Amino acid sequence: MDFFNEFNRFYATSQTSPFPHRLNARHQAIIANNAAALSGKKVLDIASHDGRWTFAALAAGAAYVKGIEPRQDLIDSAVTTFNHYDVTKSRYDFVCGDVFDKLQGESFDVVLCLGFYYHTARHAELLDRIERSGAQFVVIDTEVTPAAEEVLPQGQQDPRLIFKNPYGIQLIREPVDDQQMACDDSLTRNGHTLVGRPSRAAIQFMAEHFGYASSQYDWTAHFLAHPEHADSMHDYHEGWRETFYLRKP
Ligand SMILES: C[S@@+](CC[C@H](N)C(=O)[O-])C[C@H]1O[C@@H](n2cnc3c(N)ncnc32)[C@H](O)[C@@H]1O
Repeated sequence: MDFFNEFNRFYATSQTSPFPHRLNARHQAIIANNAAALSGKKVLDIASHDGRWTFAALAAGAAYVKGIEPRQDLIDSAVTTFNHYDVTKSRYDFVCGDVFDKLQGESFDVVLCLGFYYHTARHAELLDRIERSGAQFVVIDTEVTPAAEEVLPQGQQDPRLIFKNPYGIQLIREPVDDQQMACDDSLTRNGHTLVGRPSRAAIQFMAEHFGYASSQYDWTAHFLAHPEHADSMHDYHEGWRETFYLRKP
């Protein structure tokens, strides 16, 4: 449960929620729970930030991890940290750029899409590219809209009906000058781009479309066992963030 206590440089290399309880709890959901799926695998870490999850995946036994991150200063920081912890250089690469420019044609066994699926408006396209990479296992850790907004009215099962369709993605305008937000892209106007926050149902719907079975980490049970984590994890605790596991059958 305390992975990042041992590698505590990550508490200082980002301004994006680098809180010990939060990073360690996310480690449980994202990495520790999936150690067998990561072991020996070629992994893509989308939005690799300061390298926290690239590093954790390697420590869990991944053979190789490629991180894609558009902010060069975060990549520089990741490389400094990896050198500090003496990570073998042939086991990782960081590529600077937008995932939609950099994820083209390369194969991966596992894809980590963490803290990014609500910083894009191109959700289906991203999952399409992930699936085309050959990924058999995908972790999507993302903000979602509250579950109460997803309820289908009784007897209404046809998603072609526009009203009350639960597969919603809510558009948001987001600044591009913040290290935890979307990067400057072709949709940017006046320092803001368009992104969308998907519902849980939308993610499950897209996962199924691309041939993945989806399940979720049980954050409710997690907070019952670790109420002390709730303080730095309002988003997960209040039900507007989830960790999805997508598996090819
Ligand atoms: C909220 S942080 C998530 C960091 C980390 N993956 C995590 O979950 O802890 C969002 C990250 O997405 C990166 N990002 C923004 N737009 C991106 C894009 N188009 N392609 C790849 N990464 C992007 C940001 O630079 C930032 O590092």
